[in-house]
Amino acid sequence: MKLKITCIPGDGIGPEIVTEAKKVLDKVAKVYGHEIEYKDILMGGCSIDVHGVPLTDEAIADAKAADAVLMGSIGGNTSTSPWYKLEPGLRPEAGLLKLRKALNLFANLRPAYLYPELKSACPLKESTSDKGFDMLIMRELTGGLYFGDRFTKEVDGELVATDTLVYKESEIKRIAIRAFDVARKRRKSVISVDKANVLDSSRLWRKVVEEVAKDYPDVTLEHMLVDNCAMQLVKDPSQFDVVLTENMFGDILSDEASMITGSIGMLSSASLNDTSFGLYEPSHGSAPDIAGQNKANPIATILSAAMMLRYSFNLDKEADAIEGAVREVLGDNYRTVDIMPKENADNLKLCTCTEMGDIITEYIK
Ligand code: IPM
Ligand code: MG
Repeated sequence: MKLKITCIPGDGIGPEIVTEAKKVLDKVAKVYGHEIEYKDILMGGCSIDVHGVPLTDEAIADAKAADAVLMGSIGGNTSTSPWYKLEPGLRPEAGLLKLRKALNLFANLRPAYLYPELKSACPLKESTSDKGFDMLIMRELTGGLYFGDRFTKEVDGELVATDTLVYKESEIKRIAIRAFDVARKRRKSVISVDKANVLDSSRLWRKVVEEVAKDYPDVTLEHMLVDNCAMQLVKDPSQFDVVLTENMFGDILSDEASMITGSIGMLSSASLNDTSFGLYEPSHGSAPDIAGQNKANPIATILSAAMMLRYSFNLDKEADAIEGAVREVLGDNYRTVDIMPKENADNLKLCTCTEMGDIITEYIK
């Protein structure tokens, strides 16, 4: 099969982790007889430096022309980088939001799974981490607070900032359908997270989700308020299978979920529209503090590449091969620094970003 992939190395650790993911993909292509055609495009701070904007129309066209997009990370240190002196619409993150909207990537899948090998890196009580967890956060990605009108103006002598949270029934319905469809292939449970005790958008969310649920009598639906969900994630993450939620709540809860897997460096993600096209990126940011030091954990990006093979190319065997290799590498005690426990690390082998990519590549047979 011929795979046309556009890559967005981006900023910070992005180029390092994308290099490792490409290595792994190239090995998969070699073993399973596929051909990959890559094209790199600029997005984020690196695009601002060259073009003055975080994403050009040409870059969007290149992304659209591919079968899938593999992304590293974008952005820099928000307090020190000159990118954050620009007006908000020209900052690195605006590029990513523009791309999500331009490609209609409304469904963001973020799986959070505790590898038994990483139990000691999980910050939760042992009695909790012992139970393990395996959840999929289904985050709505092109609506809500991220895309509502926003402005700051002076009213009665002081500045007033406004952000608006808007959801249409149709936007809620399509993401709910995605959540129930995927739940059917998993443990058949959806927990829908909202703030229906305060927000109108959440009350509509709940109503639409309940309507969609009627078509899935085999899947159980529960509603949970977002503040309670934040607490339950650290109290008993094993209760979650599919977590369905809106854009902003999903952003926050997915960082929390990734941390309890041992490191934010482990969480992959897929952003999908209603075709097979997708954008695949780690859930973590650009980690400017460790950029260029060969210390980053490339696993989230490598697992995102596996999701790409599964969702955009229907190559389940190949995706299984990558996920299996990651599991084996962890089982054989290789660790990047973020997943290296402070104590009891005698039998563990510390790896650089490059070494981790090389070892995972080697384990793909
Ligand atoms: C994420 C990131 C983005 C988001 C930023 C970079 C705009 O935090 O993908 O979770 O908030 O969606
Ligand atoms: Mg985030």
